[in-house]
Amino acid sequence: MLASLKEILVKAREKNQAVAAFNVPNLEMVRAAIQAAEEMNMPVILQHAEGHGSLITLEEIGPIMIQYAERSTVPVVVHLDHGKSFEVIMQAMKLGFTSVMIDASDLPFEENVARTQEVVKAAHSLGVSVEAELGHVFTSSLGGGEGRAPDDDQIGDTDIYTDPEQAKEFVDATNVDCLAVAFGTVHGIYLKEPRLDLQRVKEIYKEVKIPLVMHGGSGVHAEDYQAAIKNGITKINYYTYANQAGADALRKHLNEEKQDYFLEDCIAVTTEALKEDYVRAIEIFSGQ
Ligand code: 13P
Repeated sequence: MLASLKEILVKAREKNQAVAAFNVPNLEMVRAAIQAAEEMNMPVILQHAEGHGSLITLEEIGPIMIQYAERSTVPVVVHLDHGKSFEVIMQAMKLGFTSVMIDASDLPFEENVARTQEVVKAAHSLGVSVEAELGHVFTSSLGGGEGRAPDDDQIGDTDIYTDPEQAKEFVDATNVDCLAVAFGTVHGIYLKEPRLDLQRVKEIYKEVKIPLVMHGGSGVHAEDYQAAIKNGITKINYYTYANQAGADALRKHLNEEKQDYFLEDCIAVTTEALKEDYVRAIEIFSGQ
């Protein structure tokens, strides 16, 4: 069933769990994510990043995401990830997305506040939840994820980490439902061992008291996920490692000694590998 982000995050927080948010820019990922959530009997977030428009457009994949969410036996949020333009955010809401992200994290604080306020006003009037970002989560050149330019030179720069007091000011001014925070995670594959500032997550949560979002959820150590969740992370965005798991399974299949290969078998093998990877992620994020 189609679900509200705000509601499922509040419930997850009470149980000290995080909800998996999978970017699904093709039908195989949509199907695998729903299968994994149903197998685990857990809620899930299907999301489409504005930057994935080069893989598939919002108009193409959006209605498919909604249809699978409506038919699912578990609560499914359909969310716009890294919405940059007001037009695309409005378009997602018109398609029936139950949640949107406004990512103005590369703009000065006041502009980030103003653009987020504008989106919150429109979204909340329609019962749609809003995620915003304060601080900035960098993107690696390896498997960077959402069509953003890589920031390799800046990775490790702690100046862009979210400041707890500023986060409070931001949340009070905007009334967002959840907040993406920067504390050392990176979109894509880590070029260096991740070193997360988990204490900062705790301090931010103490100030804002709303669910926090981890971007760059691939490649984090299991114990760091657990500590981050305990400290306030309640939504974990996860894409690159599932994307790799699907490709690895396909390579293995194509290396088997066979006379003939068929696309339908390749798709089945890939979908199964994605589902298994999603199940593992849901297990870790929900502490099972
Ligand atoms: P990864 O691609 O690193 O898993 O991050 C996904 C993400 O943060 C989507 O917004």
